[in-house]
Amino acid sequence: MSNELYAVVGHPINHSKSPRIHSLFAKQTGEPVEYTAIQAPLDGFANTVRQFFESGGKGLNVTVPFKEQAWELADQRTARAEKAGAANTLYQNSEGRLVADNTDGQGLVQDLTVNHGIQLKGANILVLGAGGAVRGVLGPLLAQKPASMTIANRTVAKAEALATLFAEDAGATILSACGFEAPDQPFDVIINGTSASLQGDLPPVRTNVITAGTVVYDMMYSLQTTTFNQWALDNGAVRVFDGLGMLIEQAAESFRVWRGVQPDTASVIDVLRND
Ligand code: ATR
Repeated sequence: MSNELYAVVGHPINHSKSPRIHSLFAKQTGEPVEYTAIQAPLDGFANTVRQFFESGGKGLNVTVPFKEQAWELADQRTARAEKAGAANTLYQNSEGRLVADNTDGQGLVQDLTVNHGIQLKGANILVLGAGGAVRGVLGPLLAQKPASMTIANRTVAKAEALATLFAEDAGATILSACGFEAPDQPFDVIINGTSASLQGDLPPVRTNVITAGTVVYDMMYSLQTTTFNQWALDNGAVRVFDGLGMLIEQAAESFRVWRGVQPDTASVIDVLRND
């Protein structure tokens, strides 16, 4: 069987790990998948997508800065993409309509619960940030039924808007919004979804949100300990994780959506950690 074509679209795209991850999935599963990276012009995302599918492409991942455009462009959206307000996965259904999905939240939950064995049900969770990355993961996190979820952000109004948007998904979870400095007691799980470290900053949260039992998860990943995780370790955290597992799990979920086959992720996480 000849290979079927998939790609990740972004700008810039040269550092994307998605081609490496999906090639490893293809090799491992024997699926006839060829996966490349496409840099779309900043004003040419819709054209790039159209051309890709017109020339026979089967599925796209979408990354910065096009996730919101992918969501808008689609003819229909999965429920989880609808709520996320952004899409990282595109494909055509049997009628040729463009479907948008979002696998980021599932990727985060899978990494936390399966790879790291963390119980989110009944946990008190502090989420830092209220941008697109956080919006993309709140639904799947709330579906785990934490006891409480506190969304803290520099711009409090954005945290409040997310708490309102996700109120209907909260069920029995106590969902609240505040500034970074308000939380004043220990949390079971702290998730950093801000991009503060890109500016060399840290979200100014109090150190008493951390105890030795707190799990700290930075959605960023890096070869070294991330800035946020280092801060957490310096303030008493013992279990800190970066976002490499989430990156690979969201890719695996896209692969499953496209191919109907679930790749093994543990071996791929090992390979990328040692690249
Ligand atoms: P992303 O797609 O990565 O979520 P975004 O939508 O621009 O990008 O959101 C970035 C998040 O990081 C926001 O929560 C932002 O806070 P504001 O909503 O107040 O802008 C947060 N952020 C960015 N730079 C920050 C900094 N230097 N200190 C603290 N928070 C920061």
